[in-house]
Amino acid sequence: MNKWKKAVLSGTLAAGMVMMPLAIYQTPIKGQAATQAFDNKIVKKIDAEKIYGHVFELSVGIGERAAGTDAEKRAADYIADQYRSYGLDVDIQPFKFQTYKEAEDVSLEINEITGKKFEPHVFGYSPNTPDEGVTSEVVYAGLGTASDFAGKDVTGKIVLIQRGELTFADKAANAAAAGAKAVLIYNNTAGTLKSSIPSSGNYVPTLGLTQEEGVALKTLLDEGQAVTATVKVIGAGIVTKTSHNVIATKKAHTNHDTGQILYVGSHHDSVPGSPGASDNASGVGVNLEIARILSSQQTDTEIRFITFGAEELGLLGSYHYVSTLTAEEAARSVGMFNFDMVGSKNAGDMIMFTVDGKRNVVTNTGASAGMRVFKPLTYGKVGRSDHQPFHERGIQAAAFSYAPLEPEYHQPTDTIDKISKEKMENMAKVVSAGVYQIARKDTPALEWAKPAPKPVEPPFENRPL
Ligand code: BES
Ligand code: ZN
Repeated sequence: MNKWKKAVLSGTLAAGMVMMPLAIYQTPIKGQAATQAFDNKIVKKIDAEKIYGHVFELSVGIGERAAGTDAEKRAADYIADQYRSYGLDVDIQPFKFQTYKEAEDVSLEINEITGKKFEPHVFGYSPNTPDEGVTSEVVYAGLGTASDFAGKDVTGKIVLIQRGELTFADKAANAAAAGAKAVLIYNNTAGTLKSSIPSSGNYVPTLGLTQEEGVALKTLLDEGQAVTATVKVIGAGIVTKTSHNVIATKKAHTNHDTGQILYVGSHHDSVPGSPGASDNASGVGVNLEIARILSSQQTDTEIRFITFGAEELGLLGSYHYVSTLTAEEAARSVGMFNFDMVGSKNAGDMIMFTVDGKRNVVTNTGASAGMRVFKPLTYGKVGRSDHQPFHERGIQAAAFSYAPLEPEYHQPTDTIDKISKEKMENMAKVVSAGVYQIARKDTPALEWAKPAPKPVEPPFENRPL
């Protein structure tokens, strides 16, 4: 066991926790030429066409990659194959999560209106009706406030409520508390009404109608007609799905193993309805290219290249991954470089983000590398991506991105034609040079026991996303 490992272990035991101070070497001026030679060795191997090829496979070949879908798994398999082709050890790590499944069968029939087809949208997290539906009298309850229900008997009835003033959740909860069997909320403006009620609480089947549909019902009721409706919501519910992380490991050289672990991460899922070219096929493309280049280099640091599933549902893959790290592994983990949205022509300048808005070993390394191979970088305070669970586990982490954000963020228009090869190439240059500076076996390990030369301090910027 080398000195560094001993220090980690005694530090872990003494502190009883995994977070500990780290110092980063800023290359002394006399070593500058040597560092640049090391940078060049890596940076010149970067092939922007290869990065673009991965973005094409993921965003055009596969397309939308929503968490837990077959497409997300196909993306994970593609990534695993690429890592394997670089000679890395690959593990596909499955994890389960619960999510709401939309109803398969949603309908509203009105006894008194036969010539018109109602096209309701069921609210997200709405409970189902029985298979035969709920058939009952329709009662109007204004905006659905508590006073709208006071003195009104809606027990077992279907309540018609207009949109406005209260949240949908409050309207639906008031109706359910008053004893309604189902709730119809109609729009107060043109267009369909599609939203959600909370995932837990006391609710009954809740549907959204257009303004025109709602007004048609209200007109009948205003005329004093009794209106009877049948509402069906079938097949909705909480389901368990599986997503996957892909973990590719490059071991440290046996005779030069400092015990350090570095992470290079990106999420491979997209939001539903978007091919996620920038968010985040671009991050995966850069991750793969750095893995390809560094896989053939000797390092004194273990590098784990990871792509995470289900980021868009709440960083689920990265939270799962950090939960599988032992305390000993976490203590040896010296930094996490996360890529998220690194390829849009329509985004701003390169930036680094930390969860707490403080600089750390990753931003310092990124800033130093930026100075050498690209240009000075700034950093800001943003979580919202896979660096967050690492930060919470006490591992210094930063997301590399471009800000301000592109207008196509989370839209169906986040497509390959908006992708800039140059932005991805610059990102690959900066982070590969930074990772290699820490990991190459010619540099000493990061040792907090030694005085740290002053790192490059990037200026903080509160740039809006
Ligand atoms: N890529 C985004 C967020 C992001 C924006 C990261 C700018 C770095 C710079 C990410 O995929 C996302 O959409 N995250 C969610 C939050 C998450 C906890 C579900 C978001 O920002 O809404
Ligand atoms: Zn993202």
